[in-house]
Amino acid sequence: MATAVAELVRLSLITFLLTSHSLCLTANPATTSTVTKPKRFVTKLIHHDSALSPYYNPNASIRDIVSRLVKSSAARFTYLKAKSTNAFVMDDTRAGVVPEKSATEFMANFSFGEPPVPQLLAMDTGSNLLWVHCLPCTKCFKQSNPIFDPSKSSTYKTLPCASPDCIQSSPGDKCDSSNNCIFLQKYLDGTAAAGLMATEKLTFETSDEGLSPVSDAVFGCAHESIADYDGQISGVLGLGPSEISLTTKLGSKFSYCIGSIRDPNYPHNQLIFGEGTKIEGAATPLELYNELYYLTLEGISLGQSRLQIDPKVFTRSPSGTGGTVIDSGTTLSFVVKSAYDVLSAEVQKLANGILERVQDPDTPTALCYKGTIDRDLVGFPGATFHLAGGVDLFLDKTSLFQVTGENEFCLAVQMLEGMGEGLNVIGILAQQNYNVAYDIAAEKVYFQYIDCELLEN
Ligand SMILES: *[C@@H]1O[C@H](CO)[C@@H](O)[C@H](O)[C@H]1NC(C)=O
Ligand SMILES: *[C@@H]1O[C@H](CO)[C@@H](O)[C@H](O)[C@H]1NC(C)=O
Repeated sequence: MATAVAELVRLSLITFLLTSHSLCLTANPATTSTVTKPKRFVTKLIHHDSALSPYYNPNASIRDIVSRLVKSSAARFTYLKAKSTNAFVMDDTRAGVVPEKSATEFMANFSFGEPPVPQLLAMDTGSNLLWVHCLPCTKCFKQSNPIFDPSKSSTYKTLPCASPDCIQSSPGDKCDSSNNCIFLQKYLDGTAAAGLMATEKLTFETSDEGLSPVSDAVFGCAHESIADYDGQISGVLGLGPSEISLTTKLGSKFSYCIGSIRDPNYPHNQLIFGEGTKIEGAATPLELYNELYYLTLEGISLGQSRLQIDPKVFTRSPSGTGGTVIDSGTTLSFVVKSAYDVLSAEVQKLANGILERVQDPDTPTALCYKGTIDRDLVGFPGATFHLAGGVDLFLDKTSLFQVTGENEFCLAVQMLEGMGEGLNVIGILAQQNYNVAYDIAAEKVYFQYIDCELLEN
């Protein structure tokens, strides 16, 4: 099925390229001003279920929200697992997560072009390319903002085939007859985007720092896209580690701070990149493998007691299976069965006689209890993920448990049955209340326990 979609994209892309040669633009000689101070580029992150999100439904029940989160986490886990074991072609134009509404956890909002036009982009640490819909968009999925019109922007330039960025972004034969670089980004579910590679001015806007422009950023200007849903986003912001990624272009550093996912009105979730990214806190080694971000998880504690788990279950095998990935697109965390059994038994021991177990319809195998986190977990300890380098990632009750109903909550560290002994994934709930900073060149991730609001001062 995916192949059929690819063929369709290829065919229609060719049609597009044959019929739109008026796209040749006169190249603007770049008038870049030199910047001395290390720049930082800040954008608010909008969670899918936040009141600021175009997907926000004030009438949604907790059950509706949880059902989506659980499905999306499972889909993301499957994707990460496939990617970690190289189960599909690693050409970047093929490797990416589904930019589907069910699988988009965070969106970034910044502007393209001159004059700047805001775009709402799905943030994805699992793919590399930055792309947006561009006019003419003959067959594109629906988005909430007007479609970007490169002909109205004075800073838009197509990317010549000979550009190194073309080779990096579009391996293989990806030139049109006018020697413009073309791209095809395919995602795991058959969703795809295709168009011309280009450069453009991006503008980040923050209340305290004003406007921060990035000139000549490489991006995919998608004139076609395929997705079987009504979208809101206008493209994808790939934050992967490859050469083509905006992250890499801006100094191979980025950080995000997620304060609360439960609170739809929480306004301080944010993403920062550039040389001036605040790199603070305790550092743990980062390893890149198949373009995913791996950490070394050494153990888990519940309260003060270190659980009896063999650290080997968290490491990657020489053949590349297993290991521990940190991800921003997964809400829940997942550990392998042998670790899950120990954690779950320990939680049950503490809850025994105090909390009443219930079965959750969306996750029948999860460890769930009746009650509310705030009222019924008073005195219940948090958990700690012990990472290499002596770094402790602390999960308080709202990071360790997830509200799943009016009077129900479940352990947010789960195990997916039928997945075999596989990958461990540190999801976004576990990273709440931390500023997580990636220094890709130095191969380190920094964790700083912080109120995200403080980063704005
Ligand atoms: C939410 O419910 C109100 C009242 O029933 C209704 O008017 C509104 O259209 C609903 N909103 C959405 C997004 O479904
Ligand atoms: C995106 O930013 C623009 C300009 O700053 C703003 O007008 C718009 O409301 C923002 N969109 C969202 C979904 O936050």
